[in-house]
Amino acid sequence: MRVKIGRNDPCWCGSCKKYKNCHYSFDEKIAKIKSQGHIVPDRSMIKLPEQIAGIKESAKINVACLDAVGEQIRAGMSTEDIDRIVYETTTKMGGIPAPLNYEGFPKSVCTSINEEVCHGIPSPDIILKDGDIINVDCSTILNGYYSDSSRMFCIGEVPEEKKKLVQVCRECVELGLKEVKPWGFLGDMSEAVYNHAVKNGYSVVRSIGGHGVGVEFHEDPWVGYIFKRGTQMLMAPGLMFTIEPMVNMGGHDIVVDEENGWTVRTKDGLPSAQWEIQVLVTEDGAEVISW
Ligand code: MF3
Ligand code: CO
Repeated sequence: MRVKIGRNDPCWCGSCKKYKNCHYSFDEKIAKIKSQGHIVPDRSMIKLPEQIAGIKESAKINVACLDAVGEQIRAGMSTEDIDRIVYETTTKMGGIPAPLNYEGFPKSVCTSINEEVCHGIPSPDIILKDGDIINVDCSTILNGYYSDSSRMFCIGEVPEEKKKLVQVCRECVELGLKEVKPWGFLGDMSEAVYNHAVKNGYSVVRSIGGHGVGVEFHEDPWVGYIFKRGTQMLMAPGLMFTIEPMVNMGGHDIVVDEENGWTVRTKDGLPSAQWEIQVLVTEDGAEVISW
């Protein structure tokens, strides 16, 4: 149960302003959109200024990890070496790698090569070779605040076909980002991602998506990429989530590795790409928090 706040009571956001001068009209607007049948975020999903500041500090480490990987990644290196770069960069800056021991995940970062869609586990036995494409998915905790982003890297001479997949997936994220604006819907972003992938002859993974993030690793809403404009959750200012489509060269079906229970691969064995950004809906647009 939540007691209704009076107009002259302090606002729920902790600003110490009167409710009527703070989030009152925000709440009214959301209630109206909800009454029209839309899915709307609840207060717990709306990030407050202090939280946003903490999340941005976390994201500095997140970005530093991916930058460090970008500088050092090359053929002949193992995915364990990438794990070490992420662990060391994170801990030196005072952070904790979020994947480490997360639901039993054994490493500090996910490394997914070629037909691996996501959640690949770093290993000293997996050696990067010329022509590979790899997603490095890095998530960071600092003072309890979470950041999460991933990039693709092309190793040496990569065939045109795979390079194009990587590029189109990146464009999907960029086109999705353009649709992130206050009082739109997640479906606006989703449709832009989907259409660009399909237009290029690719498919988008359906059952794994993005998520709210910041105060926890994975928060509501779940963020899919097969939805239409005007559907899914309202993008109210303060909503923070990831855009992280997995774009496949072949079909959208995926299988999870039976032995390790983590690594997701395309069912048809064709390559898959993923880029991930963490984005905040602001009063007048969007702010990329981590990439
Ligand atoms: N960064 C990944 C995501 O947002 C999370 C991986 S969890 C792990 O989906 F435990 F697999 F690392
Ligand atoms: Co994520």
